Amino acid sequence: MTTRPLFEPLTIGDITLRNRIVMAPMTRNRAQDTIPQPMMKTYYRQRASAGLIITEASQVSPQGVGYPNTPGIHNDEQIAGWKKITEAVHAEGGTIFLQLWHVGRISHPSLQPNGQLPVAPSAIKPDGKAFTPDGMQPFQTPRALDTDELPGIVEQFVSGAKNAMKAGFDGVEIHGANGYLLDQFLRSGSNQREDDFGGSVENRARLLLEVTDAVCGAVGPGRTSVRLSPGSTFNDMHDEDPAKTFDYVTRELGQRALAYLHVIESDDDSDALDYDALKTSCGGVYMANDGYEIEDARNSINNGRADLVSFGKLFISNPDLPERLLKDAPLACADPDTFYGGGEEGYIDYPEMARDAA
Ligand SMILES: Cc1cc2nc3c(=O)[nH]c(=O)nc-3n(C[C@H](O)[C@H](O)[C@H](O)COP(=O)(O)O)c2cc1C
Repeated sequence: MTTRPLFEPLTIGDITLRNRIVMAPMTRNRAQDTIPQPMMKTYYRQRASAGLIITEASQVSPQGVGYPNTPGIHNDEQIAGWKKITEAVHAEGGTIFLQLWHVGRISHPSLQPNGQLPVAPSAIKPDGKAFTPDGMQPFQTPRALDTDELPGIVEQFVSGAKNAMKAGFDGVEIHGANGYLLDQFLRSGSNQREDDFGGSVENRARLLLEVTDAVCGAVGPGRTSVRLSPGSTFNDMHDEDPAKTFDYVTRELGQRALAYLHVIESDDDSDALDYDALKTSCGGVYMANDGYEIEDARNSINNGRADLVSFGKLFISNPDLPERLLKDAPLACADPDTFYGGGEEGYIDYPEMARDAA
């Protein structure tokens, strides 16, 4: 039995979404030389019936890149490429935010300008390997950013947000999750700084909050959002007290009247995390993610546990996911072999329901 709230509109910040079913940000490595391609326009247009599309993470500077063939949002050609995408999504009545990304230490000299070392809060090498144009290569010890370089990082996010507005996006999501630069600052395992940006929770949260305030100043809080992954160990992340760290961060973000807070609700790093409590401490619009099945999503929206639910893999393989959920139609599974890079296969060839039935 389909219950309606998942399909009811919701006003977030300055925008009204037509349903509560959000397409989660997903890197698909189909840009060329950091420029969004026509194939990407087709991909996003096919998924425009989502209440909100959040794009794949998009680097805010040449220094912010960590993988081959990811798009950027720091030059005019990239803006022009994205503009075609936002126009196509808007023509279908959709809403689309861009995810602003700086990978920090999750990069490799072969991806960096002039072969320089990736930057990070501290010179701590993550376990694992980087995706480089020459295949997987071990991460290297990053260079710790100087305190006087941090205003420049804030500026990269601000300029990415302004460029996103030029490209016609409805808003931006600041990527504070999954072990990338802002998350590296948040968590004690990757941040051993001794200045005002390391040590206490307040200090570790400072860069994310400065970025958030500056982006809000540039595009308005109603078009600004943040993604967090308090319990994830992805990209070798760990925190000494995730419940305390993220209680502080969500309380602070909650005071900023953002469009929404997007939370990946995993518990790999700690089973002490209470996502209901985080939703309460944030107080604003709460978007839940991670492995949600339709029944969980319905229940979470119905009982007020979440205001929005984002789906990742299901949106890859079901471009018309809201309609399928509305009709309780079968859902297709996504093929992981075509997630990252390649051509149209596994990208824009997942059929819509009507064609399935034909
Ligand atoms: C192919 C792929 C690419 C992803 N890229 C991003 C990304 O660019 N930014 C991000 O915040 N999360 C990224 N994620 C994580 C998803 O947004 C989401 O959190 C994850 O897939 C769990 O949701 P799901 O169970 O509904 O798929 C990616 C996930 C997948 C499968």
